[in-house]
Amino acid sequence: MTASQPPILVLGIETSCDETAAAVIHWRGDAGVDILSDVIWGQAEVHAPFKGVVPEIAARAHAEAVDHVIKAAMRAANASYKDLDLVAATAGPGLIGGVMVGLSAAKAVALAHDKPLVAVNHLEGHALSPRLSGAVAFPYLLLLVSGGHCQFLAVDGVGRYRRLGATKDDAAGEAFDKTARIMGLGFPGGPLIEALASSGDPRRFPLPRPLLAAPGCDFSFAGLKSAVARLWQGLAAPNEQDRSDLAAAFQAAVGDILVDRTANAIGLFGDADGRMVVAGGVAANQALRARLQSLAAKKGFNFTAPPLRYCTDNAVMIALAGAERFAQGWIDDLSAPARPRWPLDEAAAAARPSHRPGRKGAKA
Ligand code: KG4
Ligand code: ZN
Repeated sequence: MTASQPPILVLGIETSCDETAAAVIHWRGDAGVDILSDVIWGQAEVHAPFKGVVPEIAARAHAEAVDHVIKAAMRAANASYKDLDLVAATAGPGLIGGVMVGLSAAKAVALAHDKPLVAVNHLEGHALSPRLSGAVAFPYLLLLVSGGHCQFLAVDGVGRYRRLGATKDDAAGEAFDKTARIMGLGFPGGPLIEALASSGDPRRFPLPRPLLAAPGCDFSFAGLKSAVARLWQGLAAPNEQDRSDLAAAFQAAVGDILVDRTANAIGLFGDADGRMVVAGGVAANQALRARLQSLAAKKGFNFTAPPLRYCTDNAVMIALAGAERFAQGWIDDLSAPARPRWPLDEAAAAARPSHRPGRKGAKA
């Protein structure tokens, strides 16, 4: 699409985890994206007593909120349904109850107003989200670090992804959330740990760095989390400083792991005209972002991250991914399934699954 083509007006819907979100964007291809509305109804309060997302509660909360959130997004954008060019909704991967709620709502809008539908892979939303701040040309190396995912992908174009490495157990965001839970903090843990770490001494507690210096660019965080639990249990009456020091030690360990693995991923990606992108909720962490940025600079790679608000789950990135697919001629019909698991690189996931069936693990 060229800059002179008329924009596409897109309604995006996201319900794969604990945010009920809807957004309306004007997509103008290489000329950029106008975000006309961006509504997020977070469920943190309903899950807080359980210190984590409870799938059944999430699905019910999405069902109660989704119509209101869509209406609010349309109203805030001053848009009417008849003017929409496209409805895009997350169809997976994620908590299946929530995904079904959002996808069904999108199908209802598409059917009632005779609009095309694109069923979006949530990971593709994260993967393309850095393009919200300007056109990042393909190909680029993507580090996707969120609550459910931790992987390196070579992004060759829309819909063209090659997985270079992935976590063998927990995702990085999951490790943040579990560490916060161990220390009796709230949920989600990432922002709380980051705030505590800023006033802590990262050298006081020794923590392991699993897979550091190993070949390839896979991750492992389970051993780090267990070490945090052991250290925490060893403290007689932990005070605020203990919390800050342990948070700082944990964040420094995650940083070392991300930097080490990213250096290898850059080598594997090996593009002369190198571009690197970090996306997903953990990319909101300023300290980790800064470390990755300086590594990229050292390697001669251009570094991009989405604006902070679009690191964590949102519907703007889903609308964007839908628009990019639609512009390439992609349309789904009303039988598009909701998918709890949906790897971006299906071939790599089939050849080297990052989890075994039935075992709790990273979603892709
Ligand atoms: O992308 P996201 O909103 O949802 C998934 O698709 O998983 O990511 C949420 C994850 C949570 O695990 C949360 O603790 C983490 O991102 N996170 C952070 C920060 N903000 C959110 N982790 C570290 N530092 C942060 N500032
Ligand atoms: Zn996400």
